[in-house]
Amino acid sequence: MRKYVNEGFKHILHGGDYNPDQWLKYPEILSEDMRLMKAANCNEMSVGIFAWSKLEPNEGEFNFEWLDKVLDDIYANGGRVFLATPSGARPAWLAEKYPEVLRVTPEGVQRRFGARHNHCYTSPIYREKVAIINRKLAERYGNHPAVIGWHISNEYGGECHCDKCCAAFREWLKEKYGTIENLNDKWWNDFWAHNYNSFDQIDPPSMLSDYGVHARNIDWLRFVTHQTVDFMKHEISVVKSVTPNIPTTTNLMGFFRTLDYREIAKYIDFVSWDNYPVWHGDESDILSASQTGMVNDLMRSLKQQPFVLMECTPSLVNWQAVNKLKRPGRHTAFSLQTVAHGADGILYFQWRKSRGSSEKFHGAVVDHEGSENTRVFKEVSALGARLKKLDEIVGTVTEAKVAMLYDWSNRWGLEDAQGFQRKDKKHYETFRAWYHTLWKRGIDVDIISPEDDFSKYKVIVDPMHYMVSNEMGDKLKSFVKDGGSLLCTYITAMVDEYDLCHLGGFPGAGLREVFGIWNEEIDTLFPEESNTVIMDDGREFRAVDYCELIHDETAKVIARYNSDFYSGMPAATVNEYGSGKAYYVAFRDTGDFADSIINTILKEQNINSAFDGDLPYGVTAHSRTDGETIYVFVENHTNDIQKVTTKNSWINVENCESISGEITLNPLEVIIIKKKC
Ligand code: GAL
Repeated sequence: MRKYVNEGFKHILHGGDYNPDQWLKYPEILSEDMRLMKAANCNEMSVGIFAWSKLEPNEGEFNFEWLDKVLDDIYANGGRVFLATPSGARPAWLAEKYPEVLRVTPEGVQRRFGARHNHCYTSPIYREKVAIINRKLAERYGNHPAVIGWHISNEYGGECHCDKCCAAFREWLKEKYGTIENLNDKWWNDFWAHNYNSFDQIDPPSMLSDYGVHARNIDWLRFVTHQTVDFMKHEISVVKSVTPNIPTTTNLMGFFRTLDYREIAKYIDFVSWDNYPVWHGDESDILSASQTGMVNDLMRSLKQQPFVLMECTPSLVNWQAVNKLKRPGRHTAFSLQTVAHGADGILYFQWRKSRGSSEKFHGAVVDHEGSENTRVFKEVSALGARLKKLDEIVGTVTEAKVAMLYDWSNRWGLEDAQGFQRKDKKHYETFRAWYHTLWKRGIDVDIISPEDDFSKYKVIVDPMHYMVSNEMGDKLKSFVKDGGSLLCTYITAMVDEYDLCHLGGFPGAGLREVFGIWNEEIDTLFPEESNTVIMDDGREFRAVDYCELIHDETAKVIARYNSDFYSGMPAATVNEYGSGKAYYVAFRDTGDFADSIINTILKEQNINSAFDGDLPYGVTAHSRTDGETIYVFVENHTNDIQKVTTKNSWINVENCESISGEITLNPLEVIIIKKKC
């Protein structure tokens, strides 16, 4: 049941973005890089990401000699390469000769040469030029033994409003809706006389038109995903036509708002992503660690197989408001935590600090000082030595029994909806807060999409699922009927996939019956206000931001509001449905209620952490398995010594010592233990 990033190289990857193209006039540095890579225990370099102007300095004039040497040298040193397609930044000659390759802003302004991610995904010329350089790279390096993967472009993102993109949007809408009448109905265009006579009249949302048609806003974002994926597929089809067996990836950015990564994941062989959390060096780092776990879970769940951390910094970044150093030990804890959640590679941006331009003060493995004697280099090298001992973990997977549902269209619809708290509905924070209750208990969680198979899970936690199609409602219904526990919250199933409100009482899409409640109204509180919620056993909890006024129809009430005109009305319910249970939490709590209800659900479904002992706050555990052996990473994300106790007998993966009874974890220590399943 193992799944590999590359069948031919079954080691944890350690290395990062290598930009020799910035150093071609410094041959002594390039040869020193090879010595240092070995010293840093690195086995992978991602090469050529922004190298187009060095590869094709003038139109049709190619220069690969420097790259030949780089690949040969890396291989001779035992390393491997993710070879990039350079489409993330185009050369000046291309922009000058074919201005159509540059993006047009929502206000219709054609951009000039400069920056990266400044190209139109629709432009036939851009596609043609990208195809030429990609093919050349594939033909020249397809058989090079160093190359173990294609790094397709870099962090796809952004949108273009040129005439070609607008026309493509209209075509996409025509394909989706068939007739303009149908589109008018689905977008509710009788409102404000917004009816169109033909698809040709439709513009993308912008200040020149408006942002008031929410269905159009959501469709535009869906189209941007479609067009980006189309461009990516074009890039991939070229390299695959020459090198069908070299796996492809593109580096993602976690919960990045404007692209539905589920669509991207369908067309790449493995997922990779870039992660730059903020670490303060104090107790708040527990939340950063929890968030890191959550995003890793999303990235792993996209393909349900190991992923690669394509970029992180070994020390600091240069673009946060305050660019603080990672405290000693944090980078190692962060990296091993990432492996715990399914990464088979820990790679850096970047290998060596640039000498000039905007990233010269961004952290890197090799400092401007240039030697292996820096604090950062030493930590990287020590981490690399540990990762080398983890070959047996490569390819193992996570078998979660708990899932959280995350849907990009839902996020787009909810964040954009005019109502509730208008500016910030805190969907992400809410999702994160529910995840945190699971993370701190050491529960393995998949973060899945409405399209995924629900049947392998026992629990689904699905907060603020505003947009639920009837089809999706049926899936959730079957999940509960068949014995699952489903938890939803306020603002559930209010609109369908077209952003049209469900009629007949919320939650819609058939979920009123599943939860056994009717949500009649929602009260949005001012930030300084709160309500109190009381459970049957007398425990009290705070309600903030949202209090829905719900009626129990067949559900059992487990908590009620204690003040305001809806005092006494249900605030949380559970409904037995088929052989499962549907929990509804009608208010936003401040963490304690979520904790209590998650505890109940996990007990009912008999779900435990893969580590059998109690976990103090800030210590957690996550697991990977090949079906025969379970590997558990016990992670101390606090700055204190912590103790945990196990009743089982384990083997420490790194030193093969037996472990049982009390285990002492140093500050920020992660230990990896295993036993037969
Ligand atoms: C990433 C990008 C890298 C580098 C890095 C700096 O978003 O892919 O090229 O700019 O940020 O943190």
